[in-house]
Amino acid sequence: MANPGLKRIVERIQDLPTLPTVVTRILKLVHDPESNAADVQMILGRDQSLSTKVMKLVNSAFYGYAGKIKTLHQAVVILGFDTIKSVALSATVFTAFAGGRKNFDRDAFWRHSIATGVAARLLARECRMKEIEESFMCGVIHDIGKVVLDQYAPGDFDRVLAYVQEKNCLIYEAERAVLGSSHAQVGRWLGMKWGLPAEIVDVIFYHHQPANAQRAPKQTAVVHVADILARTRKLGSGGDAKVPPLDPAAWEKLGLDEGRLKGILAVLPDEFAKADLFVQMARG
Ligand SMILES: [Fe+2]
Ligand SMILES: [Fe+2]
Repeated sequence: MANPGLKRIVERIQDLPTLPTVVTRILKLVHDPESNAADVQMILGRDQSLSTKVMKLVNSAFYGYAGKIKTLHQAVVILGFDTIKSVALSATVFTAFAGGRKNFDRDAFWRHSIATGVAARLLARECRMKEIEESFMCGVIHDIGKVVLDQYAPGDFDRVLAYVQEKNCLIYEAERAVLGSSHAQVGRWLGMKWGLPAEIVDVIFYHHQPANAQRAPKQTAVVHVADILARTRKLGSGGDAKVPPLDPAAWEKLGLDEGRLKGILAVLPDEFAKADLFVQMARG
């Protein structure tokens, strides 16, 4: 591991939750042209608790079929693989990192994460991208490194949070100063450990430096801008009060004008309200 700060942190992390096999198999299934709704039903059906959560979420106001989707089969046929993948991974992450400590408002953190997912999905739709559900998922998990730090390196994270207060700086600036690493690096480490697809790991790693993204530059640009939109609208909090600078290259990559951006900002709070079931689920 090239970064000594990151090495020092992750060496002390024990009992990190593993990604359930069910989710790993669903993530793989999405890229398998031979797969069908029955496969998803079979795989998810093995995990009763996860499939119950998935069914609740696909029936939430967010997808527009409130209460009408009765089976996993229907869910895949109506909403598609990508939605099921996104919902299953989000629900898993909420379960894996349930709880919290008083120094870091986990509820505000999840609201920030979900709002970023909602904004990313709106941006991706506006840019006519195919992977809008993946944008949502990447938004939901973009800051996951913060929860790893909060849960598994609480002393280090407390020092970061104190530094943020003292200097009124961004959390990643404090992490670099205090730890010599950042939540983006910790998030990439977790994503790799979990065997998430390389593109998703890249989005997590580069969400503050989208210009450096290699595997999924547009998706990274979407999440970078979405993070800023969620902060601008003050939906939740990622642990710092400042809004990071918008990378002009990322903005250019999306090809949106100011009018369309304003349109997204205007509907974001309502769209976020529709995603309330995700927020409730993250609360446990
Ligand atoms: Fe971040
Ligand atoms: Fe964020």
